[in-house]
Amino acid sequence: MYSSLVLSVFAIGIGTAEAVHKWSNVKIGGGGGFVPGIVFNEKAKGVAYARTDIGGLYRLNADDSWTPLTDAIAQSASWNRWGIDAVATDPIDPKRVYAAVGMYTNSWDPNNGAIIRSSDSGNTWSSFNLTFKVGGNMPGRGMGERLAVDPNNNKIIYYGARSGHGLWKSIDQGVTFSKVTGFTAVGTYVADPTDNSGYSNDIQGLAFITFDSNSGTVEGATSRIFVGTADKTTSVYVSEDAGATWRAIPDQPTGNLPHKAKLQPAQNVLYLTYSNTTGPYDGGTGSVHRYDITSKTWTDITPVKGGDLYYGFGGLAVDLQKPGTLMVASLNSWYPDAQIFRSTDSGATWSPIWEWAAWPDQNLYYSYSTPKAPWIDNSRQADDTKVLGWMIEALEINPFDSDHWLYGTGLTIYGGHDLTKWDTVHKVTIESLADGIEEEAVQDLASIPSETILLAAVGDVGGFTFKKSLSTVPREGWLTPLLTTNTGVDYAGNNPTSVIRVGNSNEGKPQAAISTDGGVSWSVHPGAQTGQYGGKVALSAGADAVIWSTTSSGVLLSHDSGTFSEVSSLPSGAVIASDKRNATVFYGGSSGTFYISTDSGKTFVKTTALGSAASIRDIAANPTLAGDVWVSTDVGILHSTNYGTSFTQVSKSLTNVHQIALGKGSGSYWNVYAFATGPNGDKLYASGDVGTSWTDIQGGQGFGAIDANPLAASKDTAGLVFVGTNGRGVFQGSGTVLATSVSSAVATLKTSTRLSSVLTARSTKTKVITTPRTIVISSIRTSMESSSGTIPISTSVTGTVRKWDQCGGQGYNGPTECVTGTVCTRQNEWYSQCA
Ligand SMILES: *[C@@H]1O[C@H](CO)[C@@H](O)[C@H](O)[C@H]1NC(C)=O
Ligand SMILES: *[C@@H]1O[C@H](CO)[C@@H](O)[C@H](O)[C@H]1NC(C)=O
Ligand SMILES: *[C@@H]1O[C@H](CO)[C@@H](O)[C@H](O)[C@H]1NC(C)=O
Repeated sequence: MYSSLVLSVFAIGIGTAEAVHKWSNVKIGGGGGFVPGIVFNEKAKGVAYARTDIGGLYRLNADDSWTPLTDAIAQSASWNRWGIDAVATDPIDPKRVYAAVGMYTNSWDPNNGAIIRSSDSGNTWSSFNLTFKVGGNMPGRGMGERLAVDPNNNKIIYYGARSGHGLWKSIDQGVTFSKVTGFTAVGTYVADPTDNSGYSNDIQGLAFITFDSNSGTVEGATSRIFVGTADKTTSVYVSEDAGATWRAIPDQPTGNLPHKAKLQPAQNVLYLTYSNTTGPYDGGTGSVHRYDITSKTWTDITPVKGGDLYYGFGGLAVDLQKPGTLMVASLNSWYPDAQIFRSTDSGATWSPIWEWAAWPDQNLYYSYSTPKAPWIDNSRQADDTKVLGWMIEALEINPFDSDHWLYGTGLTIYGGHDLTKWDTVHKVTIESLADGIEEEAVQDLASIPSETILLAAVGDVGGFTFKKSLSTVPREGWLTPLLTTNTGVDYAGNNPTSVIRVGNSNEGKPQAAISTDGGVSWSVHPGAQTGQYGGKVALSAGADAVIWSTTSSGVLLSHDSGTFSEVSSLPSGAVIASDKRNATVFYGGSSGTFYISTDSGKTFVKTTALGSAASIRDIAANPTLAGDVWVSTDVGILHSTNYGTSFTQVSKSLTNVHQIALGKGSGSYWNVYAFATGPNGDKLYASGDVGTSWTDIQGGQGFGAIDANPLAASKDTAGLVFVGTNGRGVFQGSGTVLATSVSSAVATLKTSTRLSSVLTARSTKTKVITTPRTIVISSIRTSMESSSGTIPISTSVTGTVRKWDQCGGQGYNGPTECVTGTVCTRQNEWYSQCA
């Protein structure tokens, strides 16, 4: 009944009932960013959460996939809710889950943080808004967890804050929190005192809270609680009276910062990892310690020494079913790879997951594949030796399954289901297990009328072409050239399989690439020079001219694949677009002034100032009609039918408009999509009647801040629209945009007006991001990077082994003679070194 009513209303084009679009991720499937924390519930089988620094919180499913949980709360004004600085799962009521949310403690994030709580496994949330900020994408975000639920009384929750705000406690299941005045340490370490931005010079604060479930109770509350702080002198504190009083633990390690602390109740032992920085990118030394709670003694159980200790330790996993079995990970070993160690004797001896054979060969005690996200393996840089990853702060063994383990990296989640084989055949199976986690920072999108449905330019993991399916993980990212970050993408209106992209990786190689098959295969643009990078790009309708509004070198032009040279008549940083039908026309916008070029980009002429507009944000050209151009500004959307000679404002109901896109509508007209401030606030709106009326098609779906959302729309499928996010990948939305009324005066958007066989994409767009929300993680590092100068690479492959290099061990076939002054010294059964 309902649907036939809607259909009939739609048929006469005057409907008022409007549906919100249905939203889901375009499937990239491999994580795409840093996963600083994973927690398993210790009492309920299969309950686990993964937190990300810019892409929200996820829940583990039985089939290894993940479900996003925090989309609804990351609306435009609350975009900082996708920064998750800590997560805790309730060991008494496993449906309860808590998270500390907020992105930055400095001016980049205007909002305070919050402790959010859910009693239905993260499906819905309530929040306690803090009176200060939380730094989910700040230094030290992999330390933790900073949030913990009392295992004896789940009304009690502790939170360890940054910025000097200390320790906080809830006694009402997270409805309210108040400061623990008896705990005075604040963790005064700062990552970089010389940084003036507030980002790296903020006080790091508290690192973790760990309850001792063995310790008994005081009035129902767990009596012994450990708290770690970011402090190189005194970092680990304990309360023996359920948090009433606190003292530093005597004889504790100094010189480094604790990252993780895990209790093994069966041993009455606390294990801790340390690094000399808070991470996540650095760490030049560190340690692993065991604190015996019964005897109150500390033991240094660091797996490596001397020159081999060129990294700090992050990830720490304890097998709760096998007392004495634990694993630790290097926080960052940039060359040749991360290192993971496992001990079955409480840290007395360790075995590594790889070791040097005859350099540069490694003996690998794992097999590796990425079937759930083939692009991870297929798009690896040829000269990158790293397979296991980097930035490993999250390392977990399933408390109910000793074979199941997971670890988070700067790129994805890895893990496997045969971990105990480490102790028998010393060979485990590792695969990417981040299916469902979409953490990409999307820079630009294009949807073109060909088999290529979508081109997505993304930060850190390059970019992806989706042909035919949006739910099949791409086999490859954009290769040849592999640019770690692509910032702009566009294609030719009259020749839609001609595509161009630009990047800002600036690794001493050209940052523009072209494709003539819709983005399947690419080659370097022959006219791109090193040092030109970033920004957006526009390809002329005939594919022979390229305008590139760079971040490095102003606005550039290339003709017929020639060298890019500066276009002085368009201001640096201008918004650009190509006309999609007239091959000699480009558009530009800067501040409130509109520009046109009619000579294929050689010169741009100011045509008109756009009324009271002070800021042109985006330009979308009609896919089928030359000279028909739509411009988004701070005061609204303006429309021209004469190449920008004159404009009319299409509707007063939208202001503060960011990206706009034209896509196939249900009837005779192009739909117009716009991120803007409108009747429902800062949302994605759509018009099916050429801009006369606008509908909120976003609904409860969160996309983060509207000024950070690239937008594109299908030219082939009515109502299909794509939204890029700064940390939650690409969303696709489907639905019908109903037409309320159509004014004949603006009927230029009729899809049938021109050659429907040469439908074209919307033009390029420049997104205005007012705050730098993505701290770029160099996900695909080239080899030989190290945060220390002491990379233990043996250069002697034929005879004498250098100091600190391997000279023996089970499975080792390399040279065994040590240089004069050193002897081959056994570390464990797997490893001997010259020392
Ligand atoms: C908490 O902050 C969020 C985001 O700013 C806001 O939407 C919400 O209304 C606030 N809640 C309360 C109880 O103040
Ligand atoms: C960490 O250790 C490395 C190696 O010793 C050293 O180069 C680096 O300066 C240290 N960093 C800090 C912040 O202590
Ligand atoms: C393209 O635009 C130019 C400049 O406005 C105009 O002179 C020319 O006739 C147009 N070409 C076509 C094919 O419309």
